[in-house]
Amino acid sequence: MTIRAVATGIGHYLPERIVPNAAFESRLETSDEWIRARSGIERRHFAAEGETTSQMATAAARAALAQAGRTATDVDAVIVATSTPDRTFPSVATMVQAGLGMTSGFAFDVQAVCAGFVFALSTANAFITSGQAQTVLVIGAETFSRIMDWQDRSTCVLFGDGAGALLLDAQKGQGTPEDRGILGLDLQSDGRFRDLLYVDGGVSLTQSTGVLRMQGREVFRHAVEKLAAAAHNALGKAGLGAQDVDWIVPHQANLRIISRTAQKMGVGMDRVVVTVQDHGNTSAASIPLALSTWVAGGQIKRGEVLVAEAIGGGLAWGAVVLRW
Ligand code: ACO
Repeated sequence: MTIRAVATGIGHYLPERIVPNAAFESRLETSDEWIRARSGIERRHFAAEGETTSQMATAAARAALAQAGRTATDVDAVIVATSTPDRTFPSVATMVQAGLGMTSGFAFDVQAVCAGFVFALSTANAFITSGQAQTVLVIGAETFSRIMDWQDRSTCVLFGDGAGALLLDAQKGQGTPEDRGILGLDLQSDGRFRDLLYVDGGVSLTQSTGVLRMQGREVFRHAVEKLAAAAHNALGKAGLGAQDVDWIVPHQANLRIISRTAQKMGVGMDRVVVTVQDHGNTSAASIPLALSTWVAGGQIKRGEVLVAEAIGGGLAWGAVVLRW
């Protein structure tokens, strides 16, 4: 018998305010056409003034619990992937814990920028398979609109805000690729590339928040190779191959990265979840947001094999294979 971390609920939250590409045209030398052609993004949601990462994370968590027909008292642990917490500390996860009315269990944040949700899933899987937790809420939540340089057209048109949450439960499996739940993982990072994508402020360096800086072309160059390799490794550890994949659930940063990675993996675009046009790049929130949107739409069905893959600042990247 093998313990598996099985997805039992999913939900998301998107702020009300939707900003189309055209909204940038009056302030910057850019166009709807350029943004669509280079990134695939058409619109994004921005948090309202005063709306925080923890509020969005809590809303997504409530939606996931409701979908599973469960309550917060069932949850042993809350793990939030975010690079845009409400405060330097305490963690967003403890704020979610309080927001849900949980008086037991444990909560903490994971920071691996756009790869954060994959790292958080892997952490939750380790707690569940080692018997330290039975039921874990894994949340990706971001307010990247708060760390944008609004004068920098090469970054501010790409990002959005939102949150997605996945409920994972310990269930018995046979130890075969036919089991439901997380079947394979591959995590990587390489700090030599830390200057390709960073925030130019921080607690110990500047005592300020700072704004995002990115060498987009360089990140792009790394993304396809590294994502395809991570997906390949994770599938191998799961005892599966590309032919077994029902859906790639990629980090939604850029449609060209998404399609070239799928091509390198030998998976057609008819088997790739794409929401980047509606959400922009929501960093650690993008995978659970995309997954939740397509599960709600009925495209992703129980028993199907999913590969979630993401890369972000660090560089940090990875892939998770799970049977839904
Ligand atoms: N509107 C119009 N022109 C623009 C804009 C804009 N918004 N932004 C940049 N340009 C210009 C550039 O100045 C450049 O002009 P130049 O040739 O005169 O110098 C030209 O467009 C081409 O710029 P590139 O950067 O080469 O454009 P590219 O095709 O690489 O697309 C993009 C840029 C969309 C940023 C792409 O490189 C990308 O998606 N990179 C990866 C981003 C990513 O995946 N990040 C990882 C996750 S994010 C995280 O971890 C937080």
